[in-house]
Amino acid sequence: MSIVGTGQFFGSPEEERDKLLRDLMAQKRDRTSPSGIPVITLNDGNTIPQLGFGVFKVDPQETEQVVTEALAAGYRHIDTAAFYDNEEAVGRAIARSGIPRGELFITTKLWPSRFDDAEMAFNESLEKLGLDYVDLYLLHWPAPRNNNFVRAWKALEGFGERARSIGVCNFLPEHLDRLIDETTIVPAVNQVELHPALQQRETRAHARKHGIAVEAWAPLGQWRYDLAGEAPIAAAAEAHAKTAAQVVIRWHLQNGIIIFPKTVNPERMKENLNVFDFELTAEEMLAIDGLDRGQRLGSHPNEKH
Ligand SMILES: NC(=O)c1ccc[n+]([C@@H]2O[C@H](COP(=O)([O-])OP(=O)(O)OC[C@H]3O[C@@H](n4cnc5c(N)ncnc54)[C@H](OP(=O)(O)O)[C@@H]3O)[C@@H](O)[C@H]2O)c1
Repeated sequence: MSIVGTGQFFGSPEEERDKLLRDLMAQKRDRTSPSGIPVITLNDGNTIPQLGFGVFKVDPQETEQVVTEALAAGYRHIDTAAFYDNEEAVGRAIARSGIPRGELFITTKLWPSRFDDAEMAFNESLEKLGLDYVDLYLLHWPAPRNNNFVRAWKALEGFGERARSIGVCNFLPEHLDRLIDETTIVPAVNQVELHPALQQRETRAHARKHGIAVEAWAPLGQWRYDLAGEAPIAAAAEAHAKTAAQVVIRWHLQNGIIIFPKTVNPERMKENLNVFDFELTAEEMLAIDGLDRGQRLGSHPNEKH
């Protein structure tokens, strides 16, 4: 298909290609409406799409294309971080999409080595993303040995509308208690490693008590253990004619957890979104709850840094 010379638009060939791509994406969006994705209201009154798209370990060279495909598939919530080194590419995909800013939910994160330098690091992230605000800005790890997460949090409290919601990642209840005692704003979210083999019951109960939403990273266990081979997941997948990934995504959603599975594969992007036409039964949910074995894939929050 020729992508120039449509006869409708008289910009440069580059502008014409961009316009055509935007039009194609708009048509694609119409066919895969994102409206089925539920939203969760955070403790600051803002809303967040419960199912989004993560870009950890997406090669910076591929990220613009991958995020462009994810937006075309219907994702509107993107989770990145300064540490992932792909904020610029995420920003380019956002700009190229033509999707109104208000329809997107963009998260990025502050790495602990910049905790004493939060304002400058935040401005760098905004600039790389090409945005004048993010929807959610997170402290990436508590790094308790550095003893500066409270100071960093106070800096985030001052960002106002440039960080519409603020939150943390990998905080244990003891770290959250310190923030709650020593600062003004209760984090809107805590993003923690959470999947069937590591269900974080204590952290979830503590979050519930304080009105903090829980986000799961590695919602699919980074596909590093055999989810499809776990009997309760396999049984539910068969009963609903769904894949193991779809069952696990559904288990998170029905638990009220916010997730953003990562994939560079366009078919899996669609598969991971196609989870709103079935519901796990209470028995199926309980059987998956039974898979918890405290199996951490990443670092313990007190050990990192
Ligand atoms: N705050 C933190 O400390 C922290 C840490 C880690 C991650 N995160 C965030 O959480 C997001 C999600 O976590 P994650 O990326 O670590 O792990 P994940 O989403 O649990 O798993 C990603 C892996 O699963 C595979 N996958 C995805 N969908 C699949 C499907 N339908 N069938 C089979 N395999 C599938 C992907 O492979 P392909 O790409 O080859 O499809 C990839 O290898 C990250 O991208 C990042 O935004 C945050």
